[in-house]
Order: sequence, then structure tokens, then C-alpha cells
Amino acid sequence: MIHGNTQGVREALLSEMDKLYDMQFDRSLFLPERLLGMLVNYTQQLNREIMVYLSRDAEILEVALGSISQVGLTEMHLRRNLDRLTGFRCIHTHPGGNARLSSVDLQALRLLRFDAMCAVGVEDGLCTGISAAFLGEVEYGQLSVNVLGPVKPGRLPHKAWLKEIELSEERVQAAIAQGGVVDESEKVMLISTEGGASLDELASLADTAGAVILSRVTQRLSHPDSATYIGSGKAQELSLECQTLNIDLAIVDGELTAAQQRNLESALGVRVIDRTSLILDIFARRAATAEGKLQVELAQLKYRLPRLQGSSEALSRLGGGIGTRGPGETRLESDRRHIRARIDELEGKLGELKKRREQIRRRRERSEVVTVALVGYTNAGKSTLLNALSGADVLVEDKLFATLDPVTRRIDLPDKLQCELVDTVGFIDKLPHSLVEAFKSTLEEAVYADLLVVVSDVSSPEYRRQREVVAEVLSELGASDKPVIEALNKCDLLEDGAVLEPADAILISAASGLGLDRLREAIARGIAQVRHPVELLIPYNKGAVLSLIHKKGQVDSEEYTDSGTLVTCRMDPLLYARVQKELAQDN
Ligand code: GTP
Repeated sequence: MIHGNTQGVREALLSEMDKLYDMQFDRSLFLPERLLGMLVNYTQQLNREIMVYLSRDAEILEVALGSISQVGLTEMHLRRNLDRLTGFRCIHTHPGGNARLSSVDLQALRLLRFDAMCAVGVEDGLCTGISAAFLGEVEYGQLSVNVLGPVKPGRLPHKAWLKEIELSEERVQAAIAQGGVVDESEKVMLISTEGGASLDELASLADTAGAVILSRVTQRLSHPDSATYIGSGKAQELSLECQTLNIDLAIVDGELTAAQQRNLESALGVRVIDRTSLILDIFARRAATAEGKLQVELAQLKYRLPRLQGSSEALSRLGGGIGTRGPGETRLESDRRHIRARIDELEGKLGELKKRREQIRRRRERSEVVTVALVGYTNAGKSTLLNALSGADVLVEDKLFATLDPVTRRIDLPDKLQCELVDTVGFIDKLPHSLVEAFKSTLEEAVYADLLVVVSDVSSPEYRRQREVVAEVLSELGASDKPVIEALNKCDLLEDGAVLEPADAILISAASGLGLDRLREAIARGIAQVRHPVELLIPYNKGAVLSLIHKKGQVDSEEYTDSGTLVTCRMDPLLYARVQKELAQDN
């Protein structure tokens, strides 16, 4: 039987295609010539994609019209054994002549674990090329994909590609035996009313959360629909796509009201979350310190409370997926009363932690070490820069929000100066105000720092907008009056002649070390201008030091004690170092 969209196809042709099931092909070939010829011929006649599953014994297990996402899951898929490859390859044609595999093809390979995913381009009754993808090593808990080709039909390296299947089988089995593959990835559809860079960023966020993106949909609207976010007709259309692609979750690139979420869920027939819930989910998984975890949980609960529906059935029916995770794997509460109690409890605990943090900060201020905070858009390279400047080993990942909790390192600067360098959580566009509020105490590192280094990824076409977002968040935090050094990172990826702004920014590559000396010098210059409050006891025989402080520093108060003058004053680190030296000298 021929599966998929057979509507309008002549019976005679269908029964001719049915004969494929009885044919025996040459098993020493990756894609037997005779089979290729038939596929090209049928594709030409029907002007539709044709898909076959070919076993390792060169038998045809299934023939379908349409692409894998259109055909839907058949019995073959359901029989899959996740511990190994399926034992058959999925070969399909592209009537437009494109011989390359699409991202949906690659995702299907990853999810369904075929021996190989193979695409055949067909145009004017001829094969334009063939490409194939095989499962590779594990990366970030997911199997990677190796794509080979496209090659011309006469040049298909049958042996090498069959060998690839063997290697792929070994890799997958080893990875699974080691427990390296996390197969809880959710299959998601991304929905945007804007498209472009915003949708790309949503895709990175979803990827960071461990989702497998099977579909990206843009419906351009000047205002989201008040009932269903996208138009209701579009929602109906997408519900079909959700079914065929077996989507678990739809993620909307905006913020949903409770009603929009409910309506869209019932229209699509799948769970729906918005951008903020997705970001919170990532935060939930990344928070490492006790304070970070509490902050994330608080932000999540506060975000959910007004969105809980009457009976709170929305939450109780959720699975363990994206948008439902709390920090430390706790399942989020689903009952209003409990949520309120938990919010109070969390706020209390955070208040305590905040006090402790303030004490630490005051101690740090007294120790007269200047604090420099690295701030910037997520993925700009702040952690890489912190590592490069300090030789420390902070988690660096090409994932968004690798750093949630502030990490501090002491670094050396020219003129024997030192400073504390603090890495902070990355900023992101469309972070709702409530979230900025929730992460304030983490971001406060930036507020209390003496100097900010704003790091931007200058290789991103969006870096100007990202700098604006950073400036906005800093102003919301009340840190816009801080002295700032602008560092434009990833300059190794820049093309010659690129026009950069601001003109006085320092061009660096945290990865290659380029420009870091200039940055160190700029930080040293910057902190030389920073004045810090200090308390010093100046013995009465050190009158010269006292007058130096009056001349170069800023004295707030003086008190005469038995052992000397107790001065509260502000001074920059250079003056402080000189004062310390003079105080240590015997008269
Ligand atoms: P968040 O934790 O999301 O705030 O990210 P971050 O700003 O700390 O970025 P991170 O240091 O984790 O770097 C993000 C990605 O950019 C990683 O894949 C880095 O290897 C890469 N990267 C950082 N600096 C450079 C650079 O100078 N050149 C290039 N080519 N890549 C870089």
C-alpha cells in the first residue's frame, strides 16, 4: 500500500508503485540504480515528493507520497527502538531539483534514528544530485548530524556511505550505553508575528532549552489577535501541522495573556508557552547558587499566578516539559493558595540572602579593591572574556544564559593594579519588567561595581540593537551613570572595513586574546579615576600622609582618637596604594 497523499493519483500508477514492495535490490549499494531510476521517474510523473524506507537487506519497507512531515507517523515510526538505529534508511525525492536536506529532514533523522536520511533532487526527469545525513557524536545531550553530498548520481560512494551507517550505529549505541543522550527533547513549533531576528533569537532560546525545532511559522500582524494571538484561521491551519509533525509544544515569540494561551492551546491541540516562560525555563535549569534558584522560582511563580486559569487545570495537566520546570527539578506549584504562600516564603529567604550579600559587599568595599562588572547581551562572550583576563575556568557555552549567577575573579592590571571582575547574567530583549525586578539582586553587581565593561558581540548583525537593550536595562537598574568601557568582542569574525560604533570602543577577541592588553590598560585608567570610600587611622607622627589625603583625596570626616586621626575619605586606588606605602614606612 502506498501511504501519504495519494489523492488524484491514477490507480494504475499506484499499483505499479506497489510492486516496489516485492522487488529485491542489490544490498551492496547505498541507493541502487534501479530504485533511483524508478523514484526519479515517479517523481517526474507526479510532481510530488516520494519517500521510501530501504532496509539493510535492500527491501522496501514503505512507500509514501509527500515529505516526512506531511506523511505523518506511520507504523514504521512507532516500531522504533530508541537504543539503536532503525535498520532502514529514509530516501526521498525533491521535485524542485534541490538535492540538499532540509532542517526538518535532519530533525527527523535525530528523532527517529534512521540509518540515514537521504535526499534526491529531481528536475526535468533527471536526478540533479544526492545527499545523505548520518547520526554523529553527542553534543549537548543530543546526537549531532553529519551531512555528506550532494553528489552526482554516477558518483555516489556506495561503500563509504554504507560504512557511515556502521559507524553511526557504533556511535549511537556507545552514546546511549554511556547515558549521554537525553531523549526528552520536546518537538516544538515556533510562532511569531514578526519573524526575522526576533524569531531567530527565539529559536536559539528554544535550542538552549533543549527543544527540537520542527517548524517555524511567521504570520505578520501589526497587532497580535486579542483572542488567539495569531489569526484564528491560521491557528486552525497550524493545528494540522502540529498533528503531522507530532509537535509537543508551541512557543510564541511574545507575551500571552491567560485567555490567548488557553484559546491557542485549544485551537492547536498542543501545549503553548510564550517567550518569557521559555526564558524562565532556561533560567530555572541554569541557576546554580541558592540565591539564583530562589530568584528564578520566585519570578516563575509571580509570572504564573495571574495566568492561572480558574480551576488551575492548565498547570495540572502539563507534562514535565519546557516551561513547567522549576529550579532544582522541583515541580512548580499549581494551586493559587500554595503559590502565594511560597512567594512569601521565597521573598523572606531572598531578603535574608540580600542582607548577607550586602555585608559581603561592604567588606569588599573596605578592602579597597575596585570592582569591575562585565555586562552585555547574552552570548556576547562575557564568560570567555573573564576567563581570558583572569585565567579562570568559568563555564563557556555557545548557549544563551550560560551565566546566571555572578562569578567574581581577581585580575591583574598594568601598574600593579588589581581589580575584582564580576561576570553577570546576560541581558536579553523583551525581558519583561517583572523579570528584571526578580533578577535585580544578581544584576545589582553591576549597580555596585565601580566601572562597567559593556561587552558586545560585534559579529552579530544585531549588535547595535543589543547595545541599546543593555543600555535600557542598565538605566532600569539605576546604573546608567557608571563609568563605562565599551568592548566590541569577536572581532576575529569581522570582515575588513566594517564600520564600528562607538568610535572609542576597544576592539577585542576574548577567544584569541586580541586587544586584551588595550582593554586592561583602559580598565586601569578607568579605575584610577574611581574614588572609593575608605576609613584610615593615621598616626599623629604621619602628618604628611594626612595632608596628602586632603590634597589628593576627598575627606568626609575626621576624628581624633588616642592612637591617631581616624579619617573617613574617598580616594582612588593609586592614592590608596601610595598612602599604604607611606604608612608602612618607619620614620
Ligand atoms: P551568557 O552566559 O549567555 O551571558 O553568555 P556570555 O556573554 O558569557 O558568552 P560566552 O562567554 O559563554 O560565549 C558565548 C559564545 O561565544 C561561546 O561559544 C564562545 O566560545 C564564543 N566567543 C566568545 N568570545 C569570542 C571571540 O572573541 N571570538 C569568537 N569567534 N567567539 C567567541
